[in-house]
Amino acid sequence: MLLLPVLLSLRLPTVGAAQQKCPGYAARNIRQTTNGLAADLHLAGTACNIYGTDLPSLTLTVEYQSATRLHVVIQDQNRTVYQVPESVLPRPNATDPATAATTQLQFNYTTNPFSFAVSRPNGEVLFNTSGSPMVFESQYLRLRTSLPNHPNLYGLGEHSDHFRLNTSNYTRTFWSRDAYGIPQGTNLYGNHPVYVDHRGKNGTHGILFLNSNGMDIKINDTAGQYLEYNTLGGVFDFYFLAGPSPIEVSQQISEVVGKPAMMAYWTFGFHQCRYGYRDVYQVAEVVYNYSQANIPLETMWTDIDYMDARKVFTLDPQRFPLHKMRELVSYLHAHQQHYIVMVDPAVAYQNYSAFNNGKNLDIFMKDADGSIFQGVVWPGVTAFPDWFHPDTQKYWNDEFGSFFNPDTGLDISALWIDMNEAANFCNYPCSDPSGYAAENGFPPKPPPVRNGPAVTLEGFPADFQPPTNAKRQASPRASMLGLPGRKLINPPYTIRNAAGGLSNKTLGTDLVHYNGLVEYDTHNLYGTMMSSASRQALLHRRPGERPLVITRSTFLGAGAHVGHWTGDNVASWEQYEISMTDMLNFASIFQVPMVGSDVCGFSQNTTETLCARWMMLGAFQSFYRNHNELGNIGQEAYRWPMVAEASRRAIDIRYRTLDYLYTAFYTQTQTGKPLMNPMLYIYPEDPKTFSIDAQYFYGDSLLVSPVIEENKTAVDIYLPDDIFYDWNAGFAPVRGNASLVTLSDVNFTTIPLHVRGGSIMPLRIESASTTTELRKKGFHILIAPGLDGKANGSLYLDDGLMIKQPQTSLINFAFNNGTFTMSGHYGYPANVSIERISLCNIGSAPQRVTITGQPNSTFIYDKDTRVVAVDTMISLTQNATVQLPAS
Ligand code: GLC
Repeated sequence: MLLLPVLLSLRLPTVGAAQQKCPGYAARNIRQTTNGLAADLHLAGTACNIYGTDLPSLTLTVEYQSATRLHVVIQDQNRTVYQVPESVLPRPNATDPATAATTQLQFNYTTNPFSFAVSRPNGEVLFNTSGSPMVFESQYLRLRTSLPNHPNLYGLGEHSDHFRLNTSNYTRTFWSRDAYGIPQGTNLYGNHPVYVDHRGKNGTHGILFLNSNGMDIKINDTAGQYLEYNTLGGVFDFYFLAGPSPIEVSQQISEVVGKPAMMAYWTFGFHQCRYGYRDVYQVAEVVYNYSQANIPLETMWTDIDYMDARKVFTLDPQRFPLHKMRELVSYLHAHQQHYIVMVDPAVAYQNYSAFNNGKNLDIFMKDADGSIFQGVVWPGVTAFPDWFHPDTQKYWNDEFGSFFNPDTGLDISALWIDMNEAANFCNYPCSDPSGYAAENGFPPKPPPVRNGPAVTLEGFPADFQPPTNAKRQASPRASMLGLPGRKLINPPYTIRNAAGGLSNKTLGTDLVHYNGLVEYDTHNLYGTMMSSASRQALLHRRPGERPLVITRSTFLGAGAHVGHWTGDNVASWEQYEISMTDMLNFASIFQVPMVGSDVCGFSQNTTETLCARWMMLGAFQSFYRNHNELGNIGQEAYRWPMVAEASRRAIDIRYRTLDYLYTAFYTQTQTGKPLMNPMLYIYPEDPKTFSIDAQYFYGDSLLVSPVIEENKTAVDIYLPDDIFYDWNAGFAPVRGNASLVTLSDVNFTTIPLHVRGGSIMPLRIESASTTTELRKKGFHILIAPGLDGKANGSLYLDDGLMIKQPQTSLINFAFNNGTFTMSGHYGYPANVSIERISLCNIGSAPQRVTITGQPNSTFIYDKDTRVVAVDTMISLTQNATVQLPAS
């Protein structure tokens, strides 16, 4: 006992001196509430006022919201301090409140100085603030928890670092920024202050900090291992999530941030995009070239190139004229393909309808003198919608309704939104936006006009053919408005924003929104608010259909509205590898399951081998889109024979497994169970999986293990102690033994894939050129028995498009001791059947296979792969039982 103060004093010099001066708080008036406790907290000594003014009186509220969720809020007594509005992130209800006796998370505290700890009933301490005083000031909040040594921490994004976070001298900054090149160790586009702490056999828990202010979360081991929140405002609002498995933690996060929105079936097809298509003819050429190359293209995209001088809600009348754009879209629709364009939030500050309409509704952000705030984005000087204004949704609906009118405008199928951090090219203070725009070339000069494509596009309308003699040419006011008198531009505490000052390259943090909230507090919400407004605008335009909106900036809860692409990556092998981490964070932790990187890389020129490998890896992202930057070499999949072949093979597998992905996606929208799984999610007790992020499970059955090094045709992959089936070797069994396995001869058109034993995968019997055609194909059920001889899987079926589904099917497949059964509910009138069942790992050719009502089923046995494939015809509208050989 006596040693303790000595140890503490030895550590003192390493703890920030300013922090030690702070008195912390004392708890009084502690009382039990129905589901927890409440207390008053009073400053326990002289204010230290290190980065603002210490708040003298706070309240503590602890609520056992369920057996696995504990909510702890420390806020100002007067409720003036800003809190994330419920309109942006609705709070979960305590639907199943627990008591101190039933909870899996115990809350313990000390009164003076006040500190608290969260533990499991077995004593495992998950969070403990006793090591240093809590600071709650007008512009600075600090709370530190001690952690066990060498913790396995994940999440805290958006970032491009490794999946398992560094725990020494590591700072994660939360402040949305236009993060070109997505450099490691910096703040990127979105903010999800939630982490998963995985302790192997001792379980996994999650901690979500519901706060949108700028912050640095510091993880270090200089004063014992700790994690420390350093926040520029807001309140301490924590959700502790008990797990105890990693998958359960993800599910519990979804209960707080909201279940993800379901996406339409077609959105899982392959998408092609680029920045720099010069005109509608070139877009048409790309569509044509894909079909010529026999590479399924589901959706064609167009970047800001289609706009007239980069102005949102306009078309370049010469390069992308309306009548030709409508012909292009009609052509795509006639071929079961889709079309998507980009819309930025910044509206050109010019006399044109989108600006005038916004000005008339008075929905743009304002400077203090009441004039419209001006920044610089692609079209030059711009205004920015204020998503808190009650008329902004109407404005957005109206602009979408007319510009994207299916009968008279551009009939898009979905939407891409960008630059919504919000990005502003002009440094703070942007005192001369037009001068800045002129000097820096915004809008850029468009390419020369041409009157038709350079090549014949058979099947396209007449005016898509080369012209003769064509020459080739290059709301009500919010309640928690935030404390008055703060330094909103340069707060005393500086977070490590890679863009410099808080207002640099974005909106001024002193701007006041319509409802009185300041940009200082709400900056990190801008992208997510644009996301939900855009989703609503799409719904308004096409009621009932599941909208696809792909956004760059996100906040907690974005997945309930939209999907995300991971922004401006680099065409490098490093970023190809890290794209897996980025995707896993969003899909598995942040509950934004529609996610993917720019396949083949956005900035810099890609290479043939990188693009081949990335087209294959991208096929195992939920959102699969090739995108490229203006000025770089073309990287469409047909450009190199090797890339074309790699793409055809990968898309073939993606499409055959599309219903498996769709089912996993649907499951996540219902239960929060992630559709992508880091290896530790499936093998949480195997420590060798904890740091792996260059392999992951697509769904929970298919292990993806790409080659990650340039010029290599070999890769060392980790196979846990389990049985797997090699996709590329006809599902031959491979016994993993918790060690690395070297795969050699992985050519540039192959990606290593292994089916985890214990899985039943519903595959389409063959691929197709579009997802519409794919839905007409029958099913092939792949049974991959586990070491215990059993397997399970499921299949979700619906019409693929509408939000409300009158008729759906959710079929559970099980295999045990030779018997394959289907059970579940069968509402969807599937007009296709199961046409084949393959069973892996059968030692010898079976005598017969008995399918009820089908005495003469034929089957083939392959002794090399040990797979029996049975031809059959089993309806997807009722239960069935099939006698197969036992595995
Ligand atoms: C941003 C986007 C990028 C897009 C470009 C032009 O950099 O992140 O995807 O191509 O703007 O709109």
